[in-house]
Amino acid sequence: MTEWQKTDWRKKPRVQMPDYTDQAELNAVEAQLSHYPPLVFAGEARKLKTQLGAAARGEAFLLQGGDCAEAFDQFSANAIRDTFKVMLQMAMVLTYGAKVPVVKVGRMAGQFAKPRSAPTEVVDGVELPSYRGDIINELDFTPEARIPDPRKMLQAYTQAAATLNLLRAFSTGGYADVHQVHQWTLGFTESEKAEKYREMAGRISDTLDFMTAAGITSSGNHALQTVDFYTSHEALLLEYEEALTRLDSTSGKWLAGSGHMVWIGDRTRQPDGAHVEFARGVLNPIGLKCGPSMTAEDLKVLLAKLNPENEAGRLTLIARFGAGQVAEHLPRLIDTVRSEGANVLWVCDPMHGNTIKSASGFKTRPFDLVLREVQEFFAVHRDQGTIPGGVHFEMTGQDVTECTGGVRAVTEENLSDRYHTACDPRLNASQSLELAFLVAEELSAMRDARAVATG
Ligand code: PEP
Ligand code: CO
Repeated sequence: MTEWQKTDWRKKPRVQMPDYTDQAELNAVEAQLSHYPPLVFAGEARKLKTQLGAAARGEAFLLQGGDCAEAFDQFSANAIRDTFKVMLQMAMVLTYGAKVPVVKVGRMAGQFAKPRSAPTEVVDGVELPSYRGDIINELDFTPEARIPDPRKMLQAYTQAAATLNLLRAFSTGGYADVHQVHQWTLGFTESEKAEKYREMAGRISDTLDFMTAAGITSSGNHALQTVDFYTSHEALLLEYEEALTRLDSTSGKWLAGSGHMVWIGDRTRQPDGAHVEFARGVLNPIGLKCGPSMTAEDLKVLLAKLNPENEAGRLTLIARFGAGQVAEHLPRLIDTVRSEGANVLWVCDPMHGNTIKSASGFKTRPFDLVLREVQEFFAVHRDQGTIPGGVHFEMTGQDVTECTGGVRAVTEENLSDRYHTACDPRLNASQSLELAFLVAEELSAMRDARAVATG
């Protein structure tokens, strides 16, 4: 077989990508991006792969979360900080409650391009191309706004670089120090879960004080003072991805330099398509979204293509079937993975199978269905004796009203109050925390059951 080239995807059928009209402009942007520094480094991607391998064995747990689509006009330090804070809180709930290390991966610093259910959109009898994310065109419903503009890739790169810069500072500059566990709370999350979080944070602080009193210095301990925080996005816009792909001199392999982990969406996972061709050649951990239409035959081919060496942590299967459908679809995929002897990490995305249109016209997700899909995911793995290794959420640290339900109940009538997403509805900070407590309960029940079985 000839060696993989980062341009090979161009020979394959492509879907969900824009047709740029100005070829010269596109070429110029690609040339420029290909000289820019990569956003992430091969050693980091390898470290994440090792940690995802541990999650696949049940020795860690993946928490992946962030916006459905990052947007240029919502870019702010506060928004990044608040999502980072909520993820730290959620990770603390999982670590403390379920006693597992949590691998933290943001849908951030590159999550700009969106697959759409239809190529065009009709409003009041006017038909225009669909909005495909800020890296491609604009949300405004005008013909000019919907023209794909290659220069948007440069703005996306700049935003991603600045986002990552802030995330790196937050991760290692003292903000994520476990001694700050009380400071991660956001003012508006007042609820019974916020109270539960405060109690837990109090117990953690007591433990830290005890350690110090006993002469075990917790200050100066790297593991308590910093976190590893990784970035991920759907590798959809392959011109952008290719331009940021770099040869790693240590291993002689190719790195997608746009983010630590990249995934293939449920609409672009054709085994012979462009997106699979791109992803198979880069060394990063790869995610693969698996919706109800994923067949055992396709999965078999994809396992072989995306992880030919059966490396631990390389491939994450992100199940997104919808509440009430997990028991119907997940076992078929688990059987395939088992019969192929494939090494995979199983993750649940309880968002994308549960999107509905509310009576008021907003796209929403009932929080109950999100919870239910997570529970069903755990139940199937319990029955099958396999390992539920992580969760994937669309969420934000902002106090938005996009998904209905939760302890501080958002109703259909409230949706219009603070509905800010450019694409799919996200869990707000308080719904995210509530979900983390539920996942922690599921994980500790699983641990207890295992202890009984082996005890
Ligand atoms: C997404 O994660 O935003 C997305 C579009 O997901 P999926 O490919 O699973 O539909
Ligand atoms: Co989405």
